[in-house]
Amino acid sequence: MAQRSASNHHRPIRSFVRRAGRLTPSQQRALDELWPEFGVDFEAKALDFRALFGRTANVVLEVGFGNGESLVQQAAEHPEQDYIGIEVHDPGIGHCLIAAREAQITNLKLISHDAIDVLEMQIPAGALQRINIYFPDPWPKKRHHKRRILQAPFLALCASRLAPGGALHIATDWQNYAEHIDEAFRRLDLFVCVERREHDGEQPLERPMTKFERRGLRKGHRIWDWKFAKAC
Ligand SMILES: C[S@@+](CC[C@H](N)C(=O)[O-])C[C@H]1O[C@@H](n2cnc3c(N)ncnc32)[C@H](O)[C@@H]1O
Repeated sequence: MAQRSASNHHRPIRSFVRRAGRLTPSQQRALDELWPEFGVDFEAKALDFRALFGRTANVVLEVGFGNGESLVQQAAEHPEQDYIGIEVHDPGIGHCLIAAREAQITNLKLISHDAIDVLEMQIPAGALQRINIYFPDPWPKKRHHKRRILQAPFLALCASRLAPGGALHIATDWQNYAEHIDEAFRRLDLFVCVERREHDGEQPLERPMTKFERRGLRKGHRIWDWKFAKAC
């Protein structure tokens, strides 16, 4: 097969930069020992949720779970639902694995890969009950706004992966991103806004507080929360 030349090689704009984060010894141990139990390797092939979780249940997917504490808390509080978390930051994944083991949960799987590829290739159409995107990287500089994950094509992809009646939950502590989100959904007819809250941390919308939310609140930021239902 002909090699593609460097000049026409297409590099996608990613919503993250892979940081060479330092893993603590316990995070490294968790990745080595617990990945076989909780981890799902990325493959360009649709997952079979029934085979993955050993049952049929509503599946909730979280994009960019950070250190995973709020993800594990949700999975522990809702044993009747199955959870998939996607993250690219190894120390956060290690932290999440440790929390998952401590919580003794069996309804959580983690994928370490770009969430856009995962949604496109691994998540079947109409398979999710809910998608959570909490405090996505705000990319505050104007020249970086194109890196924000919440853009129209990604939102259309989320809509296609949600079941009828499914919901997309979003939260941010960044005013300019909140304005961008309001505008993006105004232009889109794939979702209906069920609820929008603007608050100082006291009214999270059907979710626990997250690490980045606490950090934002310490800096005096406000919080914006949305629940969007997939349009019929
Ligand atoms: C600002 S942090 C918020 C973490 C967590 N949700 C919280 O509220 O504490 C955003 C996270 O999204 C992850 N992320 C960004 N783009 C991603 C992508 N395309 N796929 C998977 N994870 C992504 C980053 O690695 C980062 O950990």
